[in-house]
Amino acid sequence: MKNAAIYPGSFDPLTNGHLDILERAAEMFDKIFITVAVNNKKTAVFNGEERIELIREAIKEKPWKEKIEIEQFTGLLIDYARKKDVRILLRGVRQISDFEYEFRMALTNRRLAPEIDTLFLMPDEQLTFISATIVKEVAAWGGDLSSFVPDHVAKALQDKFRDQNL
Ligand code: PNS
Repeated sequence: MKNAAIYPGSFDPLTNGHLDILERAAEMFDKIFITVAVNNKKTAVFNGEERIELIREAIKEKPWKEKIEIEQFTGLLIDYARKKDVRILLRGVRQISDFEYEFRMALTNRRLAPEIDTLFLMPDEQLTFISATIVKEVAAWGGDLSSFVPDHVAKALQDKFRDQNL
């Protein structure tokens, strides 16, 4: 598929950093598949459906929302990309510390599927410290989430941590 990309991730939950990357990608591509990985080893706070719903809500007013398709996936990313006939994987890199992992993952994917490339985008510098892990840590201790995630995500996190006593 021409001019399409896959934006894979755990999205547990979506942050303002992810949204910033999506804004940039929407300028470049006609179609973006957001693939929510549900089989990786990280323990998730939100299940796949919840994560998808949080993303859907975050993009519902965006002028580029028609370009986006959101799906869960399990298995190897390159298998998913081949099934969709998409040759670009998008990843956000925030700082040097992200790079080592991203580089390894991109080269592994390239070894497995030489026709697929990984494209790295940088978020706004104000957002480079934001990660879903940090956001969950702040949420767990009842901190102010307003500059890290959209309001509905902050509320979902607060509800989750209150209900589950996480
Ligand atoms: O948001 P994350 O947790 O950094 O995303 C990581 C993700 C989901 C992109 C990565 O773990 C992944 O691609 N998982 C699927 C399994 C796979 O294809 N692994 C091969 C690359 S090492």
